[in-house]
Amino acid sequence: MLRRTVLAALPASLAAGRAAADTYPGKPITMIVPFAAGGPTDTMARIVGERMAKELGQQFIIDNTTGAAGTIAVGKAVRAAPDGYTVSIGHVGTHVANGVIYKNLNYNLLTDLAPIARLPQNPMLVVTSEQLPVKTLKELVDYLKTNGDKVPGGTAGIGSGAHLGALAFFAATGVKYQLIPYRGTGPAMQDLVANQIQVMVDQSANSLPQVRAGKIRAHAITAKNRSSAAPEIPTAAEAGYPMEISIWHGLWAPKGTPPEIIAKLNAAAVATLQDRDVRRRMEDLGQDIPTPEEMAPPAFAAFHKQEYARWQKILEAANVKIE
Ligand code: MLT
Repeated sequence: MLRRTVLAALPASLAAGRAAADTYPGKPITMIVPFAAGGPTDTMARIVGERMAKELGQQFIIDNTTGAAGTIAVGKAVRAAPDGYTVSIGHVGTHVANGVIYKNLNYNLLTDLAPIARLPQNPMLVVTSEQLPVKTLKELVDYLKTNGDKVPGGTAGIGSGAHLGALAFFAATGVKYQLIPYRGTGPAMQDLVANQIQVMVDQSANSLPQVRAGKIRAHAITAKNRSSAAPEIPTAAEAGYPMEISIWHGLWAPKGTPPEIIAKLNAAAVATLQDRDVRRRMEDLGQDIPTPEEMAPPAFAAFHKQEYARWQKILEAANVKIE
């Protein structure tokens, strides 16, 4: 009775949001993934979605919408109904770099999406195919000094994590390789294993399993410290070319999604990253897991804004833009 009175007193939209939140979720939730299946972002989406489903009692449907370094998928997420049944996963590339690089995006990455939770981040590995005749980062740099323009390297498009990794590598080493765009680093990895491309700066979650299987070679990790998941891989600084870059991920909902629903989704995401099995799987892939405080929507929004300003400087200085 009191609840009905309180709701009756609220503006209609607010009351509707609160009422909807009471029964949320009443059906499966779609998670839009901006890259191809099998890659690091898809892998994270599936691990997180599977566990959040247990918390919320409804399945997560993974919708891989690929192309244009994730700008198409984010547009779809921005236009989705703000009812809690569509969320989107993304990272520093799709939700920061693309906003700086793509001059004609018809959405604002800082205001058109509601932050749900910050998710883990992947340090990056400098990896090559088994066939490329290099065994260390120094040998790779020397090899690229003379062959760089002939060596195909993988990215997931201009603005993607693997592109930002390549930019960091070019800046730290002074050498370059060709940038071949894929719909994700999942398919790019298949071509690296098959020596169709020969180098990539890629997220640990995507590369480590192939390194462990002896199918590709890792020459450095772009982190301050070695990863406990792969202590044999030197840091880029130890290998002679200091560079630090990691690809943080996040979860968003369309702007206007009721705060009560955002709170439920955030609570499910926090419980998910506190789950022992989930943590073990993610740490085994070399991922750094944020704290519940860092995952909170206001803290995540502040981090997002700060990262936007940081990368704006980097990318404008590097004159990376697409008209
Ligand atoms: C993916 O999941 O394919 C990656 O996140 C792509 C990228 O490097 O940004």
